[in-house]
Amino acid sequence: MTSGRHRGVFVTLEGGEHAGKSTQHEALCRLLREAGREATACREPGGTALGERLRAALFATAPDEPPPSPEAELLTFNAARAQLVREVIRPALDRGAVVICDRFADSTVAYQQYGRGLDATLVASATAVATGGLTPDLTVLLDLDPADAARRVPTETDYLERETLAFHRRVRQGFLELAAAEPSRWLVLDGTKPAMQITHAIWERLQGLL
Ligand code: TMP
Repeated sequence: MTSGRHRGVFVTLEGGEHAGKSTQHEALCRLLREAGREATACREPGGTALGERLRAALFATAPDEPPPSPEAELLTFNAARAQLVREVIRPALDRGAVVICDRFADSTVAYQQYGRGLDATLVASATAVATGGLTPDLTVLLDLDPADAARRVPTETDYLERETLAFHRRVRQGFLELAAAEPSRWLVLDGTKPAMQITHAIWERLQGLL
């Protein structure tokens, strides 16, 4: 399914760690509901019973355990995504809802391809199975220097947050390159700006799609 073939609107929020996605997610869903639209909120990995179990399994990785391999990450994030697309996102878009998803396929390109160094063709084919060809109508990148992000929440809570600054810099670069390659789909915003200002900018851009 591509963006032109559903009645609803598919919006994804992307960015590194602690970029403020959750705050924007909540604000946008509230604004949509106040405007009388059905807003379907979801997050990746997760958003379904299976997806939340896969998320818990990944993030239960303790500091003294071997971390999931890049290939295991690629398949686990995509397994959760395959379920979310079929169980939640597609049905909601077919009903005409606005779906706001905290992360989607672009995160896999940024983290597993740019961050981990997995081959682009491999990442694209695994991700295509999961999405079934579904692409967002609008993707918002909350861009933030990973050093600033680490200062926002000094204690890391999961194995990905414990990754090196160099890893998080590659992830950021990945997001910026994806956005530059497809400017009609992406809205890049400075994550250091006040939350209300960011919400306003997203809301304005969303109006053209509603
Ligand atoms: P978050 O809920 O804080 O955004 O955490 C999800 C973590 O999983 C975050 O570190 C990004 C990572 N992730 C990937 O590495 N690949 C993916 O495809 C997705 C969806 C998330």
